[in-house]
Amino acid sequence: MSTFEVLNYEKHNGTGYITLNRPEALNAYNIRMRDELFEVLGAVRDDPDIEVVILKGAGEKAFCAGADLTEFLTAPSPVIARQVRFERNVWECFLGIDKPFIAALHGYVLGSGIEMALCCDIRLASEDARFGLPEPGLGIIPAAGGSQTLPRTVGVAAALDMLMSGRWLTAEEAYKIKLVNRILPRQNLLSEAEKLADTIKSCDAMAVRLAKQAVTRGIDLTLVAGLELEKNLYRRLITDRAGEHG
Ligand code: COA
Repeated sequence: MSTFEVLNYEKHNGTGYITLNRPEALNAYNIRMRDELFEVLGAVRDDPDIEVVILKGAGEKAFCAGADLTEFLTAPSPVIARQVRFERNVWECFLGIDKPFIAALHGYVLGSGIEMALCCDIRLASEDARFGLPEPGLGIIPAAGGSQTLPRTVGVAAALDMLMSGRWLTAEEAYKIKLVNRILPRQNLLSEAEKLADTIKSCDAMAVRLAKQAVTRGIDLTLVAGLELEKNLYRRLITDRAGEHG
């Protein structure tokens, strides 16, 4: 168990559990959480025991209700500068990790909550989940990668609908636009995430990581370059296997 202030980090049998842990503020994402997330992501990336990660929110009401509005409205400029620096590093770090991440989403999933979920590979939502990007109503745009990750996940039209209107979606609507992979009863959310993690862990860990790389790196390439990437990753896997057996 970690000693973080606003995150919990635990690991069991190759699964890392990152829990956003400010339930009294609906797990709103503050600078402290950003710092701790950056630290924990580095630990997850470098820990050879961790094969898969589950990201979830503490408390009954929310995965994450977005950026902490108290900091957003009052932060002095050095704090904002620090915030921006961490934002960039956190999201680059998050998206660069080739281990699989599963987001377990319940209750309010707003603003940076959606953006964190979009840094994950598979999103499971409970029936009570509600999704929204309040940014346009607040006079800002997403700053945790959402304007780029959302259209890559749900397509341009559905992303612009959410990004320009701030309209909230039910779990069912989120499922329809493929923002989430599955909808589950609230009481099964974590156990289903764990089952999925176990299924992933039953596969070859290197094949899983290279498959993630092939998709996440390939999505921004031309088809020809993407096929080349796939070929290179495949060669790497085969060479590695030959080394193991030779
Ligand atoms: N930043 C800081 N604190 C937040 C927060 C946020 N984004 N979202 C919720 N909280 C706090 C509330 O201030 C409240 O604290 P208090 O008990 O000390 O008053 C606590 O979390 C519970 O929230 P509350 O508003 O009482 O719950 P609710 O069920 O009535 O409403 C929401 C839930 C999500 C609709 C409402 O909290 C909300 O609109 N939050 C802001 C969402 C937002 O705009 N996020 C920014 C995205 S960029």
